[in-house]
Amino acid sequence: MENNNTISTLLVANAYGPADVLTFEDFDLGELRNGYARIKTKTAGINPIDARRMTGEFKHAGLPQTFGTEFSGEILAIGENGQGFQIGDAVLGSGDGFTHASVIDVPIGNLIRKPENISWEVAGSVAGVSQTAMTILDEIGDIKSLLIHGASGGVGSITVQLAKERGITVIGTASKRNLEYLESLGAIAVEYGDGLIERIKAVHPDAIDAAVDMIGTEEATQASLATVKPDGVIATIAGKPVSSKRVVPIWVKRNPKNLQFVVDGLASGKFQWEIDTVYPFESAKDAFSKILEGHTKGKILLQF
Ligand SMILES: NC(=O)c1ccc[n+]([C@@H]2O[C@H](COP(=O)([O-])OP(=O)(O)OC[C@H]3O[C@@H](n4cnc5c(N)ncnc54)[C@H](OP(=O)(O)O)[C@@H]3O)[C@@H](O)[C@H]2O)c1
Repeated sequence: MENNNTISTLLVANAYGPADVLTFEDFDLGELRNGYARIKTKTAGINPIDARRMTGEFKHAGLPQTFGTEFSGEILAIGENGQGFQIGDAVLGSGDGFTHASVIDVPIGNLIRKPENISWEVAGSVAGVSQTAMTILDEIGDIKSLLIHGASGGVGSITVQLAKERGITVIGTASKRNLEYLESLGAIAVEYGDGLIERIKAVHPDAIDAAVDMIGTEEATQASLATVKPDGVIATIAGKPVSSKRVVPIWVKRNPKNLQFVVDGLASGKFQWEIDTVYPFESAKDAFSKILEGHTKGKILLQF
């Protein structure tokens, strides 16, 4: 085992607040544990949860906070029992506590080989939203139609495509500027805002089998209640308070097999992947401010 490269530069917040609280700190990763690989990070996606934790909306992690759930990179070292991979391999996957850092240690079981025809940018932003999308569809179960609120963001973009692949008719909401994009993913696109219920009923007059809210507005809740079958699932992933007991929360369940499925679909060209903006690691404050605006098209990520 080669194990130099123990110093990692981490994105850290020592207080809750806007992106100004973010700082960079050098951290000694120490000895590589058995069953782990040490990775030189190439890219790492940012998810709204990172920025929402930064502001203090969720305080479960306490302070100081580190960030990032997904990555792409090259293996620098492999701990004992790390069969199947070699130093220099290009990999992607879910991290182990944080990925917004120049070097990270990741359990071997989290690693997926990066196909050569997938860019580092795509590879580093796939894990979180893909596993969320697969969780949503698996938990909602067998349906023929699905309403997705906020469908042009990171989770929505891949949920639309996975649902279409399962033969589900998807009605997706977005702002005007993203309607064409949503159509290109295979959804029936509807603009959110005043008159949403009428617009949904106009494109899908029959009651819809299920809905999932990726934005957490009262407008989305009311639109789901008005358009989904009485016994249909109305779910939310937004992690925000809801006004109806009918709305069930769904939380991502990590499953490398689900991630591999999406990576294979990207490599074969079956799925498309939209990158909104790539920020150099040094500009993480700008990236976190941008994702807090709530209008990401596809994914935002950091490049190292
Ligand atoms: N429960 C879980 O396990 C889990 C997992 C992952 C994510 N999440 C949460 O799920 C949410 C979505 O994540 P994401 O990564 O997809 O977010 P994202 O990439 O930031 O996308 C947000 C989307 O919301 C749309 N939007 C903004 N205002 C809207 C409105 N008033 N009505 C309808 N849509 C609106 C935006 O579309 P326009 O640009 O067209 O406005 C944008 O496409 C976040 O709150 C995140 O924290 C939860």
